[in-house]
Amino acid sequence: MSIHHPRTWEGRAFLATSLDGYVARRNHDLAWLTDPPPSAGHVEPQPSDAVPSYDEHLAGVDHVLMGRGTYEVVRRFDEWPYPDHQVLVLSHTLNHGDDRITVVRSTSEAVRTLTDRDSQAVYVDGAGVVSDWLARGLIDDLVLTRAPVVLGDGIALFGPVRDDLRFVHLGTSWNEHGYLTTHYRVVHPEPRTRRRPKPTQTPTPTPTPSDG
Ligand SMILES: NC(=O)c1ccc[n+]([C@@H]2O[C@H](COP(=O)([O-])OP(=O)(O)OC[C@H]3O[C@@H](n4cnc5c(N)ncnc54)[C@H](OP(=O)(O)O)[C@@H]3O)[C@@H](O)[C@H]2O)c1
Repeated sequence: MSIHHPRTWEGRAFLATSLDGYVARRNHDLAWLTDPPPSAGHVEPQPSDAVPSYDEHLAGVDHVLMGRGTYEVVRRFDEWPYPDHQVLVLSHTLNHGDDRITVVRSTSEAVRTLTDRDSQAVYVDGAGVVSDWLARGLIDDLVLTRAPVVLGDGIALFGPVRDDLRFVHLGTSWNEHGYLTTHYRVVHPEPRTRRRPKPTQTPTPTPTPSDG
C-alpha cells in the first residue's frame, strides 16, 4: 500500500513503553506499567495542555483498530474498555464469536472499512500494528509515555525500519510516578518523485579539418 494513500481519517496512537522501548513483557504482563512502585523523589508532576489525557484521546476517535495480540489481552479485562467505539481487530487467524468487534484480514481491508464507514479518527493500538502503520504512513499523531524502568526484554514497540520515522515534538508532561508523556505529530515524507531523465544532448559535431 502506498504510504500516500489518500485518507478521510486520522490515525492516532497512544502507548506506553519502558525506557528500553517495550510495551509489555513477553508474557504480556503490564504490572510494571499499571502498578508502579511508590514514588521516590520524582520531580513534581507537570501537566501540559499540549498533551491529551487518555480520556481526551479516546473521546476524539470513533474507531479503535488493534492487532490480535492486543485484543487477546483486552478481551480478558473485567470490563470491555471500548463500549462507545467501533472496534476493528486485524488478524489472519482469529475466528471469533465476539460481536463487539469486526475482524479485518489485512491492512487494505482495514483502510477500506474505515473509509467506507466515514471514520474521522482511529485509535491504532498494538506494538506490531502501530510500528507497521507508522511505517506505512497511516498514523498522524503519537502520544508516547515512557515509564522509568528498564525491562531488558519484552515486546518491542519498534523494530528495524526501512526509512527513518520522524516526529515533531508538540509537548511533554509528567506525572508523580516519573512517567513522561510526549505528544508527537508524525512527519510524512514527501512522495518520492521519479526524476525525469535529462534529455540527452545531441553532441555538436566537432568540425573536422575536412569540413571546412
Ligand atoms: N504498553 C502499551 O501502551 C500497550 C499498548 C497496546 C498493546 N500493548 C501490549 O502489546 C502486546 C500486543 O502487541 P503485539 O505487537 O504482540 O501484537 P499486536 O500488534 O496487537 O497484534 C499483532 C497481530 O495482529 C495481526 N496483524 C498485524 N498486522 C496484520 C495485517 N496487516 N493483516 C492481518 N493481521 C495482522 C496478526 O494477528 P494473527 O497472528 O492472528 O494474524 C499479528 O500477530 C500485548 O501484550 C498488549 O497488552 C501494550
